[in-house]
Amino acid sequence: MILTGKARLAGVVGWPISHSKSPRLHGYWLENLSIDGAYLPLAIDPVHFEETLRGLKNAGFQGVNVTVPHKEAALKFCDEVDPLARRIGAVNTIVFKNGRSFGSNTDAFGFIENLRQNSTHLDFGTAKVVVLGAGGAARGVIVALQDAGVSEVLLVNRTKSRSEALADDLSTDLSSGQGSVQNWSQNRKIQVCEWEKRNEILSGADLLVNTTSLGMAGQPPLELDLSALPLNAVVTDIVYAPLITPLLEMARSRGNQIVDGLGMLLHQARPGFQAWFGEKPEVTPELREFVLDA
Ligand code: ATR
Repeated sequence: MILTGKARLAGVVGWPISHSKSPRLHGYWLENLSIDGAYLPLAIDPVHFEETLRGLKNAGFQGVNVTVPHKEAALKFCDEVDPLARRIGAVNTIVFKNGRSFGSNTDAFGFIENLRQNSTHLDFGTAKVVVLGAGGAARGVIVALQDAGVSEVLLVNRTKSRSEALADDLSTDLSSGQGSVQNWSQNRKIQVCEWEKRNEILSGADLLVNTTSLGMAGQPPLELDLSALPLNAVVTDIVYAPLITPLLEMARSRGNQIVDGLGMLLHQARPGFQAWFGEKPEVTPELREFVLDA
């Protein structure tokens, strides 16, 4: 990589950052598109978050991605935040322009684009979706599903109070008219289900999403009996290490279509790259191989 004095700069801000795949991902696009630019891993201690972002902005950076643990701080930092990011409560992409910071959240976009690219028969408009988990990741996924206009969301979490709070929160926004969600009418509800009923509520589902950390390398597998899940349902996991989680393996072996979580990471990067470097990047099989190959 040889830069000129006009090179465009961006990066990812996290703490720690050494595990991040984003520099490799953006680096692939920069090289393939022959762009005079660089995307850097930036390890920033939370106590220095705001001063560092101001410094990057003043240094002429185009913007940054923001990852754990800074996503909520990024929302507070930005001068303007798009309604979807506000609804999710987290910013993962910042664009600096004319001395101002514009925040958005592309995780929801990444989640839906990954499904659109890799599932063959999912019709969002009629889909009944079961979401497992009620943490920060579930929040982004549910907002994405609402925005995609799915017909029903069943939310199930080990700690029911957490799923109730999340369902309440994402419904309240809608009824107050504050949400950005275009396609989710106010009479639709997020239905909260008991963790003990997680097997039986799979009957009639068109899409099953795991947003819990279960199945991730080093974590126990998710204990789920898929017998009631229709065979034409799509199963997706936002965990991508391992790429094929025990849940995806189980779903695939009984004949369900599966969509792994790596695509979400790849697709969520597209809007930021386009805003900072001015070209539209694509998610290809070669890119997947390249990112996995690290
Ligand atoms: P994130 O922001 O990545 O979603 P999180 O907020 O820590 O992370 O949420 C982790 C999710 O995995 C939660 O839904 C959590 O369930 P609880 O709310 O009951 O904690 C779920 N999870 C983690 N370990 C679990 C386990 N052993 N059994 C069931 N669910 C688990």
